[in-house]
Formats: sequence, structure tokens, C-alpha cells
Amino acid sequence: MNNTTLTKTNGQGKMEMLFQAFNTFNETALKLNEYYQGLEQQVKSLNIELERKNRELEKNLEEKEQVKNYLHNILESLSTGVLVLDIKGRVTTRNRAFQKITNGRIKEVKDFISRQVGETKSGYLELKGKARNGCVLRLKRFPLIAANQETKGTVITLEDITRLKRLEEQVSRNSRLEAMGEMAVNIAHEIRNPLGSIELFASLLKRDFSKGDERRKLVEHIISGVKSLNQVISNTLLFTHTLIPNFQKVNLSSLLDEALVFSSHIVKENRIKVSKEYSPKNFLLLYADSALLKQLFLNLILNAVQAMPDGGYLKIATAVIRETIDNGNGRVQSEMLEIKIADTGMGMNRAVREKVFDPFFTTRQGGTGLGLTIAHRIIEAHGGTIGVESQPRKGTTFTLGLPLQSEKKTAETQRHRDIENGPKPDHR
Ligand SMILES: Nc1ncnc2c1ncn2[C@@H]1O[C@H](COP(=O)(O)OP(=O)(O)OP(=O)(O)O)[C@@H](O)[C@H]1O
Ligand SMILES: [Mg+2]
Repeated sequence: MNNTTLTKTNGQGKMEMLFQAFNTFNETALKLNEYYQGLEQQVKSLNIELERKNRELEKNLEEKEQVKNYLHNILESLSTGVLVLDIKGRVTTRNRAFQKITNGRIKEVKDFISRQVGETKSGYLELKGKARNGCVLRLKRFPLIAANQETKGTVITLEDITRLKRLEEQVSRNSRLEAMGEMAVNIAHEIRNPLGSIELFASLLKRDFSKGDERRKLVEHIISGVKSLNQVISNTLLFTHTLIPNFQKVNLSSLLDEALVFSSHIVKENRIKVSKEYSPKNFLLLYADSALLKQLFLNLILNAVQAMPDGGYLKIATAVIRETIDNGNGRVQSEMLEIKIADTGMGMNRAVREKVFDPFFTTRQGGTGLGLTIAHRIIEAHGGTIGVESQPRKGTTFTLGLPLQSEKKTAETQRHRDIENGPKPDHR
């Protein structure tokens, strides 16, 4: 009986234990499930967070790339060359302008920096060699400082200042020329007065010698020399000054005659025959600066004479050219005064002819090359024209055109008045 009871009891206990164990298992399984679900939720939110972080990172990278490109573009757009060296002197960055300015000659630049720009912060490098020879570069050196204030290398900037240098040189050359011009003007003025006295005393002396006397010839040489010196001085003074003509009534024929008288000695000396074809014959009034026009005629006559060292013919002709032109408001009569100064001298070839009006162009020993430059400036100041025709060994003709317009009426009235009163020689 006991055994049966025991067995029953044991069987019941086992069942209970099993039941309990089952219950515990169920409870644990439930807990596990809950826990699993919690974990799943966490993983999900972690994934979302990761994705967000990823997106942020991508955006950051993109922005960084954009900033990098932006800075690169700025660097490449600069006309200033930029070279960056690390602490060991190795090139880490260089922009397009640097490459262009130096023509890739980094070693030359680096050597120059270590030699010259070491202590000072800037220097000038003049490139030598085939490419970019003579180019002047301005170099500046800056330390490359990191955010933590550590020096990480060197930044070098490079500017091509060749044009600036040339301009600076030109400015200083111009101011030197200006100073020289001023000095020349002062000297010219100083020389002029004693020259005037020499000419005056030589002319007085000439009177003391009879025509056949050798000494008279020597005195004539002095006078002629003084005159040509005077001519050089006048040209120099005119070249250094701005020309502002003093317009007055001028009788062209007598002006031309005065210029001929002035050069008569050298004309005679070179055995030159002069012919005049003035039209109108004695009187042609125009508004002009008489001193300037006389200088212009003298320069042309002297050139003609100098072109005929073995003699020849010098012809001076004037004419009034009338033409009908359309001035926009209809057809009007225009009058030009034409003056021709022609010689039968050595003439010029084309190369010379093209340069004759250039300042300081001369083929003549002792010539300054200013005569025709001044002539050109004088004629321009009068609103006129100057042209040249020439053939080697045949001769040269200079043609001047002067307007006879704005003051024409006054000039004509005066001309009529003068003609009525009879011509008076014009002594200026
Ligand atoms: N009538 C001419 N016949 C031939 N050559 C001429 C004549 N006129 C000018 N030339 C040429 O033009 C050049 C320039 O003339 P320009 O009068 O300007 O200077 P220059 O006579 O040489 O010197 P200067 O300043 O003393 O007058 C002369 O050197 C000469 O070669
Ligand atoms: Mg001359």
C-alpha cells in the first residue's frame, strides 16, 4: 500500500515538477521573445541612425569637395603664381600661373629663394635663357602656418612685373630726357646771345674788307657758321617746346625771300642757282606765325642746299589752289596755298624717304635729324600738310599746303587795302 501511495505521490510530484518546468520555460520563452523584440527595435533605430550619419557624412564630404574645388579654382584663376613647399622644401602645390610665369623653371626659382629671398621676404628675379628672357618677376615668401600655429612650409607668390618695370624705366628715361631738354634749352639760350654778338661784329668786320679780299671770305665763313649754329639752336628749342603759333598777318613772298637771304652765303658757296616762281608775284597774305614759317622754310632750303654739295638748282614756287569741296552743308570753294621747294640734289631712296620726318633721323654727318620733324610740327600747328617726292641722284621736292580759310576775309580785305595803298615790303 505504501508502495502504491508512494508511487502515486512520486508520479504526481513529477507531473507537478514537469508542469512547473513547462511554466518556467514558457515564461522564459516569453521573456526571450520580448527581449528579442526589444533588440530588434534597437537594431532598427540604430540602422536609422547609421543611415542618417551616413547621409550627413556624404554631405560633409561633398561640401568638402566643393570647398576644395572652389579653392583650387581660385588658385588656378589667379594671375599671380603660387608655389607651396613643405617643411623639407618639397613642392606640394603650384598653380597654373606659376607654371606659365616661370615656364616650368621651378629649380631656378627655388635656388633664387634660398639665395636671395632667404632673409628678406621678397626679391626680384630676372629670367635668363631662351624662353621668357629678360622677364622680371617679383617673388614674395610667406610661412605656411597651420591651425595649431605650427609652421608647415612656405608659400611663394610670383608676379610678372616686366611691363611695369619697362614702364618705370620709360618714366625715368622720360624725366631724364625732360631734364636734358631743360638743360639744352638753358644752354641754347646762353649760347644764343654771344652768337648774336659774334654775327654782328663779323658783319661789321666784313664791311672793312673789299670784295676780292681773302679775309672777307674768312669772315663770311664765320657768319655762315654762326647762322647754322643758330639754326641748330632754334630747332632744339622748338623741339623741346610745345608749339603754339602766334597767328598774324604774314606776307608769304617776303617771308620766303627772308629765308633765302638768310641762307644766301651757303647757297653761293655751293654754287646753287635759285629760281622763284611766286604766284601771286609779290603779295600773298595769310594768317600764320611768321617766325615759325621762316624756320620751316629755312629748314627745307638748308636741306636742299646740303643735298647739292656740287651745285644745282633750287626752285621755290607758290600758288593758290582753288577747289570745290563738300563740307557737309553743300559745296563750297576752298583755297589752299601751295609752296614747293625743289632741288636737283642727291635725292633719297624709299627707305630714307619714309623716315625723314622721324625725330633724330639723319644721314648727314653732323646733322641732328630734327629739321624735318620741326617742319612737320610747324605745318601741323598751322593746319597744313607736308609731302615729299624724291628720286635718287635726280632731286627732291617738298610740297607744303597751308589753308587760306577762316581768316581769309580779313586777309583779303587787308590785301585789297594794301594793294590800293601799294605794296610795302614786310620787314620783321
Ligand atoms: N632735300 C633733300 N635731299 C635729300 N635728302 C634729304 C633732303 N631733305 C632731307 N633729306 C634727308 O632727310 C634726313 C633728315 O633731314 P632733317 O632736316 O630732319 O635732318 P638733318 O638735315 O639730317 O639734320 P638737321 O637737324 O641739322 O636738319 C637728312 O639727313 C637727309 O637724309
Ligand atoms: Mg636738315
